[in-house]
Amino acid sequence: MEKLALFGGTPVREGGFAPWPQYDEREKEYLLKALESRRWGGYPYPSPLSLEFGRRFAEYHGAKYCLPAANGTVTLEIALHAAGLKAGDEVIVPAITFAATAAAAVRQNGVPVFVDIEERNYCMDPDAFEAAITPKTKAVIPVHLGASIADMDRIMEIAKKHNLIVIEDCAHAHGAQWKGQGVGSIGDLGSFSFQSSKLMTSGEGGCITTNDDILRQKVMSLINCGRKGPGYDGYEGQLFTGNYRLSELQIAVLMGQMDRLDEVTKARAEMHDYFKKVLHSEVKGLTVLETDPRTTRKSAYQTIMKYNSEAFAGVHRDRFLEALEKEGVELDGEFYTPLYHEPIMNALSDEYPALRDRYGEGILFNKDISCPVAEKMSYEQGIWMHYSYLSGTKKDVEDIVAAIAKVQRLASDLR
Ligand SMILES: Cc1ncc(COP(=O)(O)O)c(C=O)c1O
Repeated sequence: MEKLALFGGTPVREGGFAPWPQYDEREKEYLLKALESRRWGGYPYPSPLSLEFGRRFAEYHGAKYCLPAANGTVTLEIALHAAGLKAGDEVIVPAITFAATAAAAVRQNGVPVFVDIEERNYCMDPDAFEAAITPKTKAVIPVHLGASIADMDRIMEIAKKHNLIVIEDCAHAHGAQWKGQGVGSIGDLGSFSFQSSKLMTSGEGGCITTNDDILRQKVMSLINCGRKGPGYDGYEGQLFTGNYRLSELQIAVLMGQMDRLDEVTKARAEMHDYFKKVLHSEVKGLTVLETDPRTTRKSAYQTIMKYNSEAFAGVHRDRFLEALEKEGVELDGEFYTPLYHEPIMNALSDEYPALRDRYGEGILFNKDISCPVAEKMSYEQGIWMHYSYLSGTKKDVEDIVAAIAKVQRLASDLR
C-alpha cells in the first residue's frame, strides 16, 4: 500500500536537484583574464569591466545606464539617496519582499510605509499604494516578485500624479520585460542584486539602472566615496557616502552570465511554463501564479504557488510542506513574512528617530498594521520554489509534480 515517506514509505525523489549557481567556461575565461590583468578592485570607478558590463546590462534592459555596486541592499540605499530622500520622508514598499527593500528607507533616515499586495501576483497593490500616500511621501519601491512584474502601468500613473520617485526593486527579475520595456528602466531608478541565490550572481553584488544623466552622476559618486571625478560634476555639492564598489573579479563572473542571459532567460521561462502545465494537469488546488499578459519577457526566479487546503483534506500548508520534504522536494512556505512582523526588521526609533511618529519605539512595536492578503499568502497560501529546481531536466519537473500529487492523494493521513 502506498505510504508517505513521512510515515516510513519510499520517497518519490532521492538525491537532490541540479547544483546552484551554474557556470561554464565563459566565467572561467573572464575570471582568468581579470586575474591576469592584475586589476582586481573597482577603483578608479567606474573600472573598465564595470563600464563594459554596465553598458551591456543597461542595453539588455533598455536603460541608458547601469552602474555595478557591492550588493542589492546598498543599491537601494544609494537609489534613495540619489533621489534626494530627506530625514522623515516616507517610502512606500510592499509588505511582502526581502527586508532590504524597507531597511534601505530606514538606513537613509526615511520611514518605510508597508502596503498590501495583489492576490493575483503577490506584488504591490496599486490601490493600496495610492491610499498610503501622504504629504510626506517621497518615493515608492515596487518589487517584481518571484516571476511576476508589479503593475507598472498603474504604479507609474499614480507616482506621476503625486510627483513621487519610483525605484524598481528588480532583485528577482533580471532580464524581465514589461510591454517591451526592461525592468529597471521604467521607474526613475532600478536596483538589482547579484547575491548567490539570484538569477545572475557573483556571490555578492548589485547594480543600479537609470535613464537620467544627473541621477547617474549622483549614483556614480555615491558608490565611490562621494568623489566628484571627471564627468561627475553635473550635480550641486559633494555627497557624503562610503565605498560601495564591486570588484573586477566579481564583474568578470557576471560577464559570463551576461553572455548567456538572453538564452537562459528564455529557457527558464519555458521550464516555468512546463512546470505549470504538468502541475495543473496532475494536481488540483495548487496553482502557479498567472503571468500578467503585459509581460513580454518573463524572468523565472521563484515559482510562486497558491495552496488551497480544501484540496488537501484540510491539511495546513506547512504540514503539507513537511510531508513533501520527506518525499525529496523541499519548498518554502514562509519565504517572506510581512515585514512588520519580520524579526530582522527590528529597526528602533532610538537609532532611527524618524521612525518614532509612525512606529513608536520601532517598526516591530506597531501592532496596528494589517495587510490581509500579505498575511494570508505568508501564513497559509504561498509556496515558493527556487529556480534551481527547474534548472535540470524535464524528469526533475515531473518528479516534483509526482511528489506533490502523492502527498495530495494521501493528505488525509496527515490530519
Ligand atoms: C527583493 C530583494 N531586494 C533586495 C535584496 C538585497 O540584495 P542583496 O542580498 O544583494 O543585498 C534581495 C536579495 O537578497 C531581494 O530579494
